[in-house]
Amino acid sequence: MRVGPVRCNMARFFGTDCKTMIGRLNHVAIAVPDLTAAASLYSATLGAKVSAPVAQPKHGVTVVFVELPNTKIELLHPLGEESPIAGFLARNPAGGIHHICYEVDDIIAARDRLKATGARVLGDGEPKLGAHEKPVLFLHPKDFCGTLIELEQA
Ligand code: CO
Repeated sequence: MRVGPVRCNMARFFGTDCKTMIGRLNHVAIAVPDLTAAASLYSATLGAKVSAPVAQPKHGVTVVFVELPNTKIELLHPLGEESPIAGFLARNPAGGIHHICYEVDDIIAARDRLKATGARVLGDGEPKLGAHEKPVLFLHPKDFCGTLIELEQA
């Protein structure tokens, strides 16, 4: 993680003392009620490259990965009784953006820095291996403009 003053190509907007933490947008996750229809929407209608559905029983979801030139979209459908997105789909039956994932260089340093600001880290606060087998944490949507945020150590 870069914590000191770093050169920032947006210096004209943000000044020269950008203390950056989050990096690339890793993915946007969209919960969908019908995975086949959603995959077809992205491949046929939008003309994107989509994967076959991938069951991730440990995470309670089946995922279709949509590859874009600069990031990924993950179409999520509940898998199993305990799916973490079941409640979201019950509240949003047509589907909707579930979370966005930003990359960080050092997830422990990022967590500690966020907690020091009073931001709430979900669960027990310890990084878990996420869908890409990399350590992830989730941040409370009420602390981040109403958006559930996943941090992934890149
Ligand atoms: Co995610």
